[in-house]
Amino acid sequence: MRARVFPDYNAMSAAAADVVARRSNEEPSAVFMLPTGITPLGIYRRLVEMHRSEGLSFANANFFNLDEYLGLAPDHRASYHVYMKEHFYELINADPARVFVPDGTAIDPEAECERYEAAIREAGGIDVCVLGIGRNGHIGFNEPGAPFDSRTRVVELSESTRKVNASDFEADRAPERAITAGMATIFDSKSVLLLASGTNKAGAVAAAVEDDVSESMPASMLRSHPNAVLFLDEAAASDLGHGVAG
Ligand code: PGA
Repeated sequence: MRARVFPDYNAMSAAAADVVARRSNEEPSAVFMLPTGITPLGIYRRLVEMHRSEGLSFANANFFNLDEYLGLAPDHRASYHVYMKEHFYELINADPARVFVPDGTAIDPEAECERYEAAIREAGGIDVCVLGIGRNGHIGFNEPGAPFDSRTRVVELSESTRKVNASDFEADRAPERAITAGMATIFDSKSVLLLASGTNKAGAVAAAVEDDVSESMPASMLRSHPNAVLFLDEAAASDLGHGVAG
């Protein structure tokens, strides 16, 4: 897995946004898988700017979200439906018919997961998957121990993830489960951009890149991906050995 290290968060975000924009220009009906969280905010800001000032169009692009909390209605302010609308989909010219986010209120969540996988297949598979990394190495909501051959499914969130995300919820109300694109779903993407910013990600980044490839460190799976690139700011790269950064 190649690592690109940028001086700061803005430079990293601009470079990652360029990859998405380029793909969208080359292939207007490209299929993207996108994350939520703090890390991708800079990419979305930059892409929205490019849409407004440079005419970057997403009219025919297809978007799949990595994950959604189970039990949250699409209009819940902490849902990833709302996050994506507020930060991206409603600020560009996305076609709602080409935007897919798992339904956290599905009566049959397992069927919803199958429907999601089928929609990805029908779209022709993911061209570009953009990911953050959790402090525990999770990608999407694939927590440590997630099988590398897993597909979109219902998962339990780890205590540490619930704690990190707790501020989005009323006391003790952080959901315990989510629907996440699986490890194999992510791995099948033609290209993967794994983004990390800040010293609180440095340990996970170093473990993913330098320790053994193991299901206990989900992001390490990407080391065997033919086209996965790490986008890091200097702080997130600060625990890496000398052979990788640069
Ligand atoms: P963050 O989340 O971007 O908010 O740090 C990343 C993740 O947990 O995958």
